[in-house]
Amino acid sequence: MINVEIDGKRVEIEAGRSVIEAAHRAGIYIPHFCYHNKLSIAASCRMCLVQIEKVPKPVPACATPVSEGMKILTNSEMAVKAQQGVMEFLLVNHPLDCPVCDQGGECQLQDIAVGYGGGVSRYR
Ligand code: FES
Repeated sequence: MINVEIDGKRVEIEAGRSVIEAAHRAGIYIPHFCYHNKLSIAASCRMCLVQIEKVPKPVPACATPVSEGMKILTNSEMAVKAQQGVMEFLLVNHPLDCPVCDQGGECQLQDIAVGYGGGVSRYR
């Protein structure tokens, strides 16, 4: 077992687990699309980007293993900016009113766009 800190909360977790699993154990939600605990890690959507202390760029929480003493920030300026940037790219060619989609109103993309998107796109 090792100790990590996520948004100021200490979590004890087995070595080799991922940052997103540690966050879930701490009760902290990290937005994600491609991660599922019963599937292999694809790390393709990049929605789960977080900041790790002493790491110069955001890292995907689903594909980053925890290490002893790691300090993770899920809502720092760097993490939020990264998540908003990913959301903006995901929505470049995707409307959010989705008039023809069966998932309209119960859509994870819409939910995460509202919760973690930037609100305004620079693309038309
Ligand atoms: S959840 Fe898709 S990259 Fe981590």
